[in-house]
Amino acid sequence: MNSKFALAAAAAALIAGPALAVDVTGDPAEGEKVFNKICQTCHVVENDAGEVVAGRNAKVGPNLFKMPGRHAAAIEGFRYSDLMKEAGEKGLVWTEDELVKYVPGPTDFLRDYTQDPKGRGLMTNQRVKEQEIRDVFAYIASFGTHE
Ligand code: HEC
Repeated sequence: MNSKFALAAAAAALIAGPALAVDVTGDPAEGEKVFNKICQTCHVVENDAGEVVAGRNAKVGPNLFKMPGRHAAAIEGFRYSDLMKEAGEKGLVWTEDELVKYVPGPTDFLRDYTQDPKGRGLMTNQRVKEQEIRDVFAYIASFGTHE
């Protein structure tokens, strides 16, 4: 976490009481439908106790538990694409707005972020509306965010 982010989070916590360090505008109930329809084919949300809290334990993609606010490519043991690892090293953190840009065109987004025109991401383009992505971010954030 950079210090600016930490300060903003601390300030938000002071003003609003216990608050999420990550901005969330979507509707988690709607997001649950999106997750179940699309994301769970490849992703699980499995908490630190090893309980599957969303999805059916698919392991094609990385575990999305506490993805909101986390650096890209942070799940140990998952074989990310080189492009995703590069994006994480260059500072990509999963916010709602970054997710909105990533999900419809993962490879294009990561190439743009890393300025690496030849790299390839492992996730295929998902046909999901912007609002649905905001909602699914809120659903995943409801299980916890990265601090
Ligand atoms: C067809 C399988 C598939 C589907 C469907 C899918 N993903 Fe992924 N996802 C992947 C794979 C594989 C990766 C790893 C990408 C890489 O390494 O380039 C990934 C990576 C991610 C990451 C980066 C996580 C990290 O640890 O950095 C996020 C966030 C993500 N997906 C969100 C979603 C969301 C939200 C949905 C539903 C709208 C979704 N994905 C649907 C396969 C999928």
